[in-house]
Amino acid sequence: MAYRVAMEDGLAAAYARRMSPDAPRTPYADPAAGAAVKAADRAHVFHSWSAQGLIDPLAVAGAEGAYFWDYDGNRYLDFTSGLVFTNIGYQHPVVVAAIQEQAGKLVTFAPAFAVEARSEAARLIAERTPGDLDKIFFTNGGAEAVENAVRMARLHTGRHKVLSAYRSYHGGTATAINLTGDPRRWASDNGSAGVVRFWAPFLYRSPFHAGSEAEECARALQHLEDTLAFEGPATVAAVVLETIPGTAGIMTPPPGYLAGVREICDRYGIVFVLDEVMAGFGRTGKWFAADHHDVVPDLMTFAKGVNSGYVPLGGVAISAEIAATFETRPYPGGLTYSGHPLACAAAVATIKVMEEEKTVESAAHLGEHVLGPGLRELAGRHPSVGEVRGLGAFWALELVRDRETREPLVPYNATGEANAPMAAFGAACRKNGLWPFINMNRTHVVPACNITEAEAKEGLAALDTALSVADEYTV
Ligand SMILES: Cc1ncc(COP(=O)(O)O)c(C=O)c1O
Repeated sequence: MAYRVAMEDGLAAAYARRMSPDAPRTPYADPAAGAAVKAADRAHVFHSWSAQGLIDPLAVAGAEGAYFWDYDGNRYLDFTSGLVFTNIGYQHPVVVAAIQEQAGKLVTFAPAFAVEARSEAARLIAERTPGDLDKIFFTNGGAEAVENAVRMARLHTGRHKVLSAYRSYHGGTATAINLTGDPRRWASDNGSAGVVRFWAPFLYRSPFHAGSEAEECARALQHLEDTLAFEGPATVAAVVLETIPGTAGIMTPPPGYLAGVREICDRYGIVFVLDEVMAGFGRTGKWFAADHHDVVPDLMTFAKGVNSGYVPLGGVAISAEIAATFETRPYPGGLTYSGHPLACAAAVATIKVMEEEKTVESAAHLGEHVLGPGLRELAGRHPSVGEVRGLGAFWALELVRDRETREPLVPYNATGEANAPMAAFGAACRKNGLWPFINMNRTHVVPACNITEAEAKEGLAALDTALSVADEYTV
């Protein structure tokens, strides 16, 4: 107890020191402060998705641009963008200043009023969303956006069932976690949410034994038709898909697939929901991933990149037809902080920065000329890389034990010893100053959309070294 109190006192002093205007904003060693931060975290912070006694969170002292650093003076190039949200990097001065300005002017206000920052954020978002998705319902993050999109679809259609893909992640709340395909769902899957899952296309591990993108597309669409036929199309409110599944593996759908899903939804009066929480706001080299496929969903969810995660914000962009449903009928949903002025001011500033600095174009350039060629070159030299796929600042390397059989480097959802190869790969990245995004047998290359070519190459060099470690586990 005495140790804990002492650490807490140390924390207060360290906090005051670092918050002082004179404190350096670049990496410097202050291990005592780091130890205090860590001690208070271990004593009091309950972390997401974790066995609390088995984790060892790094104490982070600061961040800027594409980098962050710890209290021991170690600096890391962040190839994760946090959880794929800092699309403009950390501490962008224009957005930080806009948040400060909004805090000084009107830091908060209830959602039932028209507020300048909220109106302007909605206008700027609606201007960029495809088609007639011109009304914005604001939430605090992605899962709440998905919850509300599904609620809107159910009320609009008068139907309950919702279809989603096995290889997907849609959030941690009740409906969103039920829609989620990945194993994070299992513990909360009570089978009561009216969700039916199906297989979306993924040629490298084709659920349809397809040999080409065209075959994968046709068979995936037929599979969706078959699933609907056996579920009863008139019972289905919505099909919910990530435009490009993110955490599940960054699988760009084959040409024609999303248009095909759009056509099926239209035929049966089903609401088409695209989840752009991770893929949206520049990540893929366009404002929205849907723009690559010329599809307009009925509802589109967003979060993360809308303001680079500087203040929690998400939302649903709503089509004219669904908005009309709630023109005279009240929408039965809301949040205390819907359209929080601070979060909206951050979105306004972020979108303006992205326009002025051409961040979306930077992501496209990065994918085409730096990350794509660089990652493919690594794949040519490292037998552990089974496939490289992606676009913009949104890439996945599928690591395998055997390129021929495509056996993953670690089994699906492996933990402990079974996950040792990926753990060794991750440790090698960090040792080389790169913070990697790792999910199962994949590493995702998802840096800020505005990293420089030199920074991207620094990351590729660290990956090169770490992939040599992964190679040791190949057959
Ligand atoms: C595609 C997608 N949808 C929804 C979510 C949930 O967002 P949040 O964690 O902000 O609730 C995520 C989060 O990673 C996501 O990637």
